[in-house]
Amino acid sequence: MIVDAYLPAAQAQAIALLTRGDLVAIPTETVYGLAADASQATAVAKIFALKQRPTSNPLIVHIGSMAQLNDWAVHVPHLAYRLAAAFWPGPMTLILKKAPWVPRCVTAGQETIALRIPNHPAALALLKQFNGGVAAPSANLYTQLSPTTAQHVEHSLGSELLILDGGPAQIGIESTIIDCSSGEVSILRPGMLSAEMISTVLGQRVNYHAASEIKRPGSHYLHYAPQADCQLLTHERLATEWSVMDLATTGFITYSCDIAWSSAAKVQRLSSHPAEYARDLYRALHHLDQQRCARILVELPPTTVAWYAVHERLHKAAGLSLG
Ligand code: TXA
Ligand code: MG
Repeated sequence: MIVDAYLPAAQAQAIALLTRGDLVAIPTETVYGLAADASQATAVAKIFALKQRPTSNPLIVHIGSMAQLNDWAVHVPHLAYRLAAAFWPGPMTLILKKAPWVPRCVTAGQETIALRIPNHPAALALLKQFNGGVAAPSANLYTQLSPTTAQHVEHSLGSELLILDGGPAQIGIESTIIDCSSGEVSILRPGMLSAEMISTVLGQRVNYHAASEIKRPGSHYLHYAPQADCQLLTHERLATEWSVMDLATTGFITYSCDIAWSSAAKVQRLSSHPAEYARDLYRALHHLDQQRCARILVELPPTTVAWYAVHERLHKAAGLSLG
């Protein structure tokens, strides 16, 4: 059931469900999350069951304030506090050493924990009132596209779930994950918070971690896949090939304006600005899936660093690795 996330009665109902160990879908600024009380192992188990997610994939714990950081993490390095001060609430997840009491199912048995303070007013209000930690992966079936609207959640997980509708997600792709659990800081998953922004705050160069010992299910091919067969094409190839495609079953995602589309074509034209493009990308993929496109052709965006996280998601949607 979809309810307005800002209604006090909806927030109260969500808190009651979380407290008694049940699931609720919540809005965040990145994507919608499937939430459970992270301190209750039986509640967390329901997340894995509903999503059909392997229990070897650890979850992100969402908290409402910096004061809660030390409830969940120990030996928090100075650099992590600097990042938290700069970017929380926001689209950033920090990997830290976990407090001993944290249920093993949350961290998939690892000694580290993923923590985030999301920047969405309804989510923050809920987390502050709940005053605990909320484990929340993206609110979709395992390997499917992440949801950026309440309707996407309902489509993937059904209408029995309480879904707090906080409007379309404003960032639109998942948070940047930064590993601060060892001596060296590195980025495990790119997001709209870029390596440049992180490096600037830390005053040192931070890189993407290529091959991590840490389990990163997000790095599986086909992790963010739409149902349709998704292919990435250069502008030139798209401009010459689109007219020979079966327009009834082919969807297109573009960002440039100079392709002479037939009015019959299923086209999602996104912004040429990377933040706006990222905000709308999953919505466009969901939309073309719902139009039952057999294939989706995506015009490759520019290869500048500002587009890095978008490229990573597009490559995953197409089942490719990023160079
Ligand atoms: O934007 C987001 O991060 C969204 C919203 C709901 O907050 N959540 C999200 O959750 O994307 P999920 O479960 O789809 O992705 C979480 C990622 C997974 O790739 C998981 O492997 C990684 O976080 N992760 C969690 N705990 C970890 C840990 N201790 N070490 C390394 N990676 C971890
Ligand atoms: Mg996910």
